[in-house]
Amino acid sequence: MTPLDLDHPVWEQVYMVAPLTIVGTKEPDGTYDLAPKHLAIPMSWSEHYGFVCTESHATYVNAKREGCFTVSFPRPDQIVLTSLAAAPRCEDDHKYALDAIPTVPATRVDGVLLDHAYLHFECELDRIIDGFGVNSLIVGRIVAASAAEDSLRDADCDAQEMIAHSPMLAYLHPGRFAEIHQTNAFPYHVGFKR
Ligand SMILES: Cc1cc2nc3c(=O)[nH]c(=O)nc-3n(C[C@H](O)[C@H](O)[C@H](O)COP(=O)(O)O)c2cc1C
Repeated sequence: MTPLDLDHPVWEQVYMVAPLTIVGTKEPDGTYDLAPKHLAIPMSWSEHYGFVCTESHATYVNAKREGCFTVSFPRPDQIVLTSLAAAPRCEDDHKYALDAIPTVPATRVDGVLLDHAYLHFECELDRIIDGFGVNSLIVGRIVAASAAEDSLRDADCDAQEMIAHSPMLAYLHPGRFAEIHQTNAFPYHVGFKR
C-alpha cells in the first residue's frame, strides 16, 4: 500500500464510486436552479435523504430559504444534461445552460425535476448541519417519490435483466462516470439480518 498525502484531499488521489444526482431548488426570482451532487445518500432506513453542499452555492441558500428541494437521478444518457447543471453563472448571476435541461414540475414541494430521470424525490428540509470545513450536510424528508416504470423493482422480473435493460449511472470521483449494465446478486450469509 502507498501512504496518501493527507495535505491533499484523499478524494483526489483515488477513484471512489458515488451516485450522481441533480438537486433542484427555487431561486429568489422564482426560477428554478439545478445542480449536480455526488456526495448524496439516504440518511436513514426511512425517509431521510441528504447531500453535502457548500454555503457559497445557490443550492444551499435556496434550500435553507425555501425549506425544500428536489432530487433527480439521471440515466447514463443524461450525463451531458447533468454536466450542464454545473455550468458557471454569467455576469448577471444566471445559469443559462439550465434552459437546455427538460424538467417537470414537482407535485408536493415548490420545485422542478429532471424529465426522464429514473427516480424523483421531493423533500422538505429536515435540517442543515454546518461545519464540515466549507461543507454542510443538507438533510431532507422525502414527502413524494416516483420512479420510471422500467426502473421499478419487480419480484417477478430478473433484476440482472431489468438493470441491463435500464442501465444505471455511477459517478467515479474525480471526473469519470460509468454506465452499469451488468450486476450480480450480493452473496448474503445464510441467516443474515439487517
Ligand atoms: C459531477 C459533479 C458532482 C458534483 N457534486 C457536488 C457535491 O456533491 N456537492 C457540492 O456541493 N457540489 C458538487 N458539485 C458542484 C456544484 O453542484 C456546482 O458547482 C453547481 O454549479 C453549483 O450550483 P449552484 O450555485 O447553482 O448551487 C458537483 C459538480 C459536478 C460536475
